Amino acid sequence: MLLEQFSTQPAAWKESLNRYVGHILVPSAQELYDNLDWEREARTLCNVELVYPPYYLVPHHGVATGYLSNWQAFGWELIEHIFGIQRVRPALISIAQATHPQRIVDLGCGTALTSIRLAQRMPDTELILLDLSPYQLVAAQRQVQCFGLQQRTQLRHACAEETGFVDGYADLVMASLLFHELPRSTARAVIQEAQRILTPGGHFLIFDAIQQVVPWPSVDQMINKLLAFFMHEIYWNEYMSEPIWISCARQGFIHIKRKILFAPPWIYQVVLAAKD
Ligand SMILES: C[S@@+](CC[C@H](N)C(=O)[O-])C[C@H]1O[C@@H](n2cnc3c(N)ncnc32)[C@H](O)[C@@H]1O
Repeated sequence: MLLEQFSTQPAAWKESLNRYVGHILVPSAQELYDNLDWEREARTLCNVELVYPPYYLVPHHGVATGYLSNWQAFGWELIEHIFGIQRVRPALISIAQATHPQRIVDLGCGTALTSIRLAQRMPDTELILLDLSPYQLVAAQRQVQCFGLQQRTQLRHACAEETGFVDGYADLVMASLLFHELPRSTARAVIQEAQRILTPGGHFLIFDAIQQVVPWPSVDQMINKLLAFFMHEIYWNEYMSEPIWISCARQGFIHIKRKILFAPPWIYQVVLAAKD
């Protein structure tokens, strides 16, 4: 119900604008999602019992409906270009692949381009894509079909902090560009949930914007305030205030490693943590 209240049905002008912009800026996304009935598909994937947490029901990235419309999924490819994500993806996939997973859970999967490519490289793995936005899941589903991974992929409309999976369900839990979108308390709850659903010896792989970019806190805060404002990132400052590797250590993760990935002018970090 909340979904219906929050997401507006796309008006005709919005559809036309979407198509027009899509043709120019993201031609491959336009082709991929052409003829997709987003509203119908979103209803199919939607878990009607799910109650959206209030922090999620806010305008985000300059989009009034936040993630509860197809706008962000549609434009994601363009975002990936602008922020150099494609340039760091191969390194991220190699790190994930080296953990030799059998069952991967991708929390806040979005269009799932990283985990899908990882699963494509590992023909024996099972992939579970989880997101709070049914629209993001619609896009992920289309990508899964494109890569021919339907047989070993499941889609789940749920919160990353309350996945509903049993203890020890997966041996690799991923969260790509999720943590900077979460309030601090939710970020901690997601780390706790990842710890719970991992098998002993399993890995938690977190990819996101670099934290503690400069060693002077006041300069760091100033840079972050500017970025949060320009990118309309609601929880950016909360994310920046608590290094993820420290949160993982507090939660009992061991062998925590951090690697910096450069895609100038952007800098990312990968944190890999193991469950004892
Ligand atoms: C910036 S996108 C990143 C998508 C994808 N992981 C990637 O790297 O391309 C963040 C995604 O996290 C999802 N999300 C945000 N909060 C969430 C939560 N608490 N539980 C599950 N998904 C969440 C959003 O709906 C969105 O799809």
